[in-house]
Amino acid sequence: MRNIKIFENPVETASNFGDYFIKTASKRERFHIALSGGSTPRILFDYLAGTYKTSEAWKYIHLFWGDERCVPPDDDESNFRMTEEHLLKKITMPSENIHRIKGEDNPNKEAVRYGEEVRSNLSYKTGLPLFDLIILGLGEDGHTASIFPNQMGLLNSQDICQVAVHPGSGQKRITLTGNVINNAAEVIFLVTGDSKKEILAEIINKSEKWKTYPAAHIHPVSGNLKWYVDKAAARLLQTKV
Ligand code: 6PG
Repeated sequence: MRNIKIFENPVETASNFGDYFIKTASKRERFHIALSGGSTPRILFDYLAGTYKTSEAWKYIHLFWGDERCVPPDDDESNFRMTEEHLLKKITMPSENIHRIKGEDNPNKEAVRYGEEVRSNLSYKTGLPLFDLIILGLGEDGHTASIFPNQMGLLNSQDICQVAVHPGSGQKRITLTGNVINNAAEVIFLVTGDSKKEILAEIINKSEKWKTYPAAHIHPVSGNLKWYVDKAAARLLQTKV
């Protein structure tokens, strides 16, 4: 399992990723990362705020989001708010380095605006914006970012961002599209917890309904795809993978 790193627990998973992220970003003059919402990133942000509170890296790391709920930035559902509470309020970072998706605005208009913000800040490769790193979570239904199994077309959209709809709640989301995610220099999934063991195994082992899951279609053209997972989530992986 060359590109799968298995750690003891969520904190070990998040902290090892955090060390890798800062080490990688510290080699650059400017580093563009797209963040994810979810439980493991929350642990990651707490770790970064503690261990790298005064890191110089925050001067040239630019934060984007891979997806955002269409809610105000102070809403409990907001991915930005979670990042703000667990990281941004605890570090010093130039405000121009923080590229928030404006969940409070009209979704269709914000998808266009955010796409332009990504376009104007990133360099390009094969006609698409090039993120240095994108972190992703994995939903139990196989979604990633806000690309859900009933909206697989978002994987191949020609747009940078699209409006998605959560299939359960009907909540609108803004998400990076699959082509932009797959254009990144590196994509790293953060997956922890017993509840993810089945979906992770289906995707990694390419078994059952794996092709029906959006996360199974994340294959960076750069080839740099890594999974940072904990033992609980990895329990059903076949060792020969
Ligand atoms: C979001 C995330 C979403 C998340 C998965 C996994 O906006 O919620 O972008 O894709 O990563 O749902 O979330 P957990 O790690 O909390 O299970």
